Amino acid sequence: MCGIYGYIGKEKALFHVFDGLKRLEYRGYDSSGIAYVDKNGKIKIIKSIGEVENLKNKINFCEKSNLAIGHTRWATHGKPDIKNCHPHFSEHFALVHNGIIENYKDLKSQLNYKFYSETDTEVIAKLLEENYKKLINNSNKEISILNIIKNSLDKLKGSFAVALIYKNNPQNIYVFKKNSPLVIAKNNQESFISSDINAINNCFEYYSLSDMDIAEIGENYIKIYDENLNLINKKKIKKKALNYLTSKKYSHNMLKEINEIPIALEHIYKEFQTKNFFNISKKIKEYKNITIVGCGTAYHAGLYGKYILEKYLNKKIYSELSSEFKYKNIIINKNDLVIGISQSGETADTISALERAKSKGASVLVITNTPNSTMTRLADYLIICNTGPEFGVAATKSYVSQIYTLYGLACLSINKKINNSVINSSKKLLKEIDKFEFCKFYNKEKFFFIGRLFDSVTAFEGALKLKEISYVHSEGYCAGELKHGTLSLIDEKSLVIAIITQDSIKEKTINAIHEVKARGAEVLVITQFKDFKQLDNIIELPLIEEDILSVLSIIPLQLFAFNFSLMKGLNPDKPRNLAKSVTVE
Ligand code: AGP
Ligand code: GLU
Repeated sequence: MCGIYGYIGKEKALFHVFDGLKRLEYRGYDSSGIAYVDKNGKIKIIKSIGEVENLKNKINFCEKSNLAIGHTRWATHGKPDIKNCHPHFSEHFALVHNGIIENYKDLKSQLNYKFYSETDTEVIAKLLEENYKKLINNSNKEISILNIIKNSLDKLKGSFAVALIYKNNPQNIYVFKKNSPLVIAKNNQESFISSDINAINNCFEYYSLSDMDIAEIGENYIKIYDENLNLINKKKIKKKALNYLTSKKYSHNMLKEINEIPIALEHIYKEFQTKNFFNISKKIKEYKNITIVGCGTAYHAGLYGKYILEKYLNKKIYSELSSEFKYKNIIINKNDLVIGISQSGETADTISALERAKSKGASVLVITNTPNSTMTRLADYLIICNTGPEFGVAATKSYVSQIYTLYGLACLSINKKINNSVINSSKKLLKEIDKFEFCKFYNKEKFFFIGRLFDSVTAFEGALKLKEISYVHSEGYCAGELKHGTLSLIDEKSLVIAIITQDSIKEKTINAIHEVKARGAEVLVITQFKDFKQLDNIIELPLIEEDILSVLSIIPLQLFAFNFSLMKGLNPDKPRNLAKSVTVE
């Protein structure tokens, strides 16, 4: 979601910032813009709606500029049009912002300015202007930009990463942040800023800003101050290289990422052999309560974690949506463990949930696919899934990796051998599904995914995949629940996808299949059992241990969603309204 990229150095600022915005593009956005300093020291602004490519047509790349800040916006306040698009400005400031200013309405009413946009962001520009004026009126001396920023920062509530250019000193970029990531990097004679460290390449120094820090960045230096404006000696952070799994070309990131599942699983299996993984698997047993938090797909992986850990550890495990966990009355203390699951490691809701857990004294285990991310810095225990960057907005290989990781943890904690046949089976399954004709369901209008226990998790995730990239209404249900209300929706326009991998409750889901067929629905069954031969539509799963079949049963559903999206003429990599990394609460 929304990105910031900035450059200060020699002449090619526009080129660098455009390039950086392209690297942030996959995260999701609706408009983009750049503020730069021209050769006369004047601040210029370029904005565009839609693709970053549209911005390209407005940039004169021959124009020399030493400094620029850029933004990809994911609108939270005000529709994605030119006036709301960043950079925002006041007389002395141009700035870009990621996040939400929660008290923007109060501030707006206190500030005596005319506002041109509907955004919460514009209030930051006007607040800086107000503080500039106050300081200039109360002082004969040269006023300090750091004081202007500090006075403004103290008034802002919410989440923000802000980069700004100050008209009176256009040789520097200034940045500050709270609850939204921001990284600064340096090379010889050039500095970079970004909301995502992985968008900055080949620098020899990287710094991650802490909440309420303010930094002044020049071509040759980075000065970081704490909230009291004391210069601090910030520790450099290490940027771990991203591990791309294949260079093979595919039509879409999502398809590539689904096809990378077998290699991703191999990577995790290697992780299972590490001392870190072993120690964590032993440690988790010592905690009184374990709660798993996450959002969207990562929440579904957490639900699987609940089932598998409960089964193997034989104790109650809780699974919660991060966005609920952070507000509800949680009873948690130092004897408890909270496991945060996140592909990006930057999801604001999960970050807040983990911060809340820490503030109550609980230990935090983070399972993420993204080294260098904010969550890695919150972790008492850390597992990096290491399955390579995931660019498709729909989480695919990361979900499978999270599930396998949770399964591995559960196994090792009770000294059970970890099943690795799932790696080869995933390869075979991918080949098999390639032949399946998803197009036969194209005329269906309603989609219901059903399953029980582990399979209910696959049902929830399958429904999420389909709705997010195909924009069709789909629902995931525990199979036993259909008859308690949803059955009234079932008719011949419905496709019911039943996931059946658990022998003990197989018959029960079969009952649900009879019920929906009797009401005209078409049924597709995803199963390893042979009992369904009489049905027209079956995707057969390989025969492996039931507890881990969730790793495989989601693959056909990911491909189903992908194909459906294509059939509808959509781009599955970039669904409307969604972002890869949701950095606002
Ligand atoms: C998955 O397809 C979605 N795009 C979304 O639900 C995602 O899983 C969720 O936003 C959590 O993201 P995270 O794993 O990066 O924390
Ligand atoms: N809240 C701001 C807006 O709507 C920033 C959104 C973003 O992070 O892109 O403009």
